[in-house]
Amino acid sequence: MEKFIVNGGNRLEGMVNVGGAKNSALKLMAASILTEDVCVLKNVPEIRDVFTMAEVLEALGVQVDLRHPEGMVIKPGASLKCVTSYELVSQMRASIIVLGPLLARLGRAKVAMPGGCNIGSRKIDLHIMGLELLGAHIEVEHGYIDAQADVLKGTVISLDFPSVGATENLLMAASMAEGRTILENAAREPEIVDLADFLNKMGARIKGAGTSTIEIEGVRELRGTDHTIIPDRVEAGTLLVAGAITRGDVTVKDAPIDHLRLVVAKLREMGFTVKELPDGLRILASERPESVDIATLPYPGFPTDVQAQMMALLCLARGTSVVTENVFENRFMVADELNRMGGDVRVQGHHVTVRGVERLTGASVRAPDLRGGAALVLAGLAAEGVTEIADIFHIDRGYENFEHKLKALGADIVRVPRRRRG
Ligand code: UD1
Repeated sequence: MEKFIVNGGNRLEGMVNVGGAKNSALKLMAASILTEDVCVLKNVPEIRDVFTMAEVLEALGVQVDLRHPEGMVIKPGASLKCVTSYELVSQMRASIIVLGPLLARLGRAKVAMPGGCNIGSRKIDLHIMGLELLGAHIEVEHGYIDAQADVLKGTVISLDFPSVGATENLLMAASMAEGRTILENAAREPEIVDLADFLNKMGARIKGAGTSTIEIEGVRELRGTDHTIIPDRVEAGTLLVAGAITRGDVTVKDAPIDHLRLVVAKLREMGFTVKELPDGLRILASERPESVDIATLPYPGFPTDVQAQMMALLCLARGTSVVTENVFENRFMVADELNRMGGDVRVQGHHVTVRGVERLTGASVRAPDLRGGAALVLAGLAAEGVTEIADIFHIDRGYENFEHKLKALGADIVRVPRRRRG
């Protein structure tokens, strides 16, 4: 397995570009199968989850050209298969996002049921409930969600919780249903708006994306289009924390300011200077952070995907912080690893208490998941001595050229290839 070796202590300085949003790219790739025509996606990040989604589409019979000079070119064609295997879904849970589009296009979707994952059990009952309300007949058997519908019919769907994935699956299915669908308590994440913009360019009639009530007037057919993916707010947030934790001066070009309001507010509350530039954000740091409390919530609340990175930063704060996770049931796996580096993080249910320490020390640690892995890299950048981070395949799922971007800012980080046996 590959590892990162980080020699801590360098102050990060300079400018870094942010890539396209992972969580948007994956959904737009899936939405492309709603038409027989060609779709072109620009600013798609080159990360492992995108490659996995390309495999999911290829297994459905779709042609995907990842490196076309125009962007990612997706050609679904007239005949599409309806099955997505467990092998693919177990590599990436987000593969279930093909459920809605397949059902809308073919009237049938057979997608493997995702298992648990490192950050909790992550149910999919809301996806299923919504599709049933649209008229699908769904059975879960032999490890597959088998959904069938002669016609999908628009209706009113109220989600118990504003699930991102359920909102997206239902948005895509309802786009080609008969009549009008009203989706209440919908997720409001920027990636939902990006998906709705893309679908509208394909000919869908969606209003209200980005608010809690989305109205979808179904259409018979969608057509091909091209679209540029929005910048990744989570990557941008991670790079801002890299600047903060190394007491550096980092400009994150194309950081989507409007999507990062709460992250920026918390960084300012910690005492850092964050400047809004015409094309990004600049963080200037020279001191340890002040302690702050953070509670994650669905957008526009504080993003759960930046929680672990903030926890790493708060390890070095003056004073005690409380971090509360309200979106996922088990997303503090990184706490024990941070403690191995000298942190003082105590988990109690869905809260953690982080008592700030003056310094972290390099240690051998293991990335527990994607964002937890990034948090350990950040901690390593600030720690005294050498940190070895194992299981970095988690980090590769969602960060494009992570170590190269950090190196360009002055970090001492190398990727050590897998050791050959014998
Ligand atoms: C997406 C993002 C992920 C982010 C999360 C929350 C992608 C690929 N992933 O994940 O990075 O952390 O949004 O912002 O876009 N739930 C149910 N029933 C359901 C669906 C969800 O109970 O049918 C629960 C989940 O168990 C979880 C919570 O709702 O506790 C949030 O899940 P959801 O918003 O659906 O997140 P994802 O779409 O899986």
